[in-house]
Amino acid sequence: HGDVAGYLQRLADAGMTARQTGPDAVTLEKAVPVHSLPGFDAGDVSVQDAGAQWAARLLDAQPGERILDACAAPGGKTGHILERADVILTAVDADVARLARVEENLNRLQLEATLVEGDAAQPETWWDGQPYDRILADVPCSASGVVRRNPDIKWLRRPDDIPQFAAQQAVMLEALWRLLAPGGTLLYATCSLFHEENDGQVRAFLARHTGDAERCPLPEPLSDGSLLPDADHDGFFYALLRKI
Ligand SMILES: C[S@@+](CC[C@H](N)C(=O)[O-])C[C@H]1O[C@@H](n2cnc3c(N)ncnc32)[C@H](O)[C@@H]1O
Repeated sequence: HGDVAGYLQRLADAGMTARQTGPDAVTLEKAVPVHSLPGFDAGDVSVQDAGAQWAARLLDAQPGERILDACAAPGGKTGHILERADVILTAVDADVARLARVEENLNRLQLEATLVEGDAAQPETWWDGQPYDRILADVPCSASGVVRRNPDIKWLRRPDDIPQFAAQQAVMLEALWRLLAPGGTLLYATCSLFHEENDGQVRAFLARHTGDAERCPLPEPLSDGSLLPDADHDGFFYALLRKI
């Protein structure tokens, strides 16, 4: 993590061609099994889509802050947040088998978080009552932005799924908002391309929260929140909400 030039050299020494594709990221010319990547088993690097890497950057957690990663498994973004700053992080997921993968990933990276099997929509069952400075809500969604890597999604999804996801996301967003400290920020994220799960969801939230929420501007190329899928990354949507 952190030293892109040094890692490009380690790859070159191992006979692998790659190029830098982000502040913390390289892309290999040819895919290889993860365990053959130099330093993978020792936790020097992780494999993460370039679009997903925006999450930790936008969340911008600062040392010592209390962070909630509300839908954390398998922990790609959890690891990235912890690599960027020494924070007190709680990682929640409803799926215990997937939560075990967060543990595996953090063990490999030699990073620590409190792992909680819990429902992000019902924090009263697991929350310790202390507000969080920042929350990542990487909510379950239609995954319509990642069909290039999971083409079966196109066949598995039904038209009814989208309003169902949108309704579940709205409930989660409301529940998680209550856990955020005043002045704190919540990063809402999906890997969907649909308005109802993305901008429509956030606009509806802001309409319900005229007194206590504002939307923070995002840098290019995310100014409207969406990152359309292309050869270099999956499709994502991000919105950063500040509690007034
Ligand atoms: C988009 S994935 C998260 C990806 C993860 N943030 C990462 O970067 O590796 C959504 C996650 O939400 C979890 N999930 C679904 N419903 C949930 C709920 N009600 N409460 C908490 N987690 C939930 C799923 O098990 C899944 O792991």
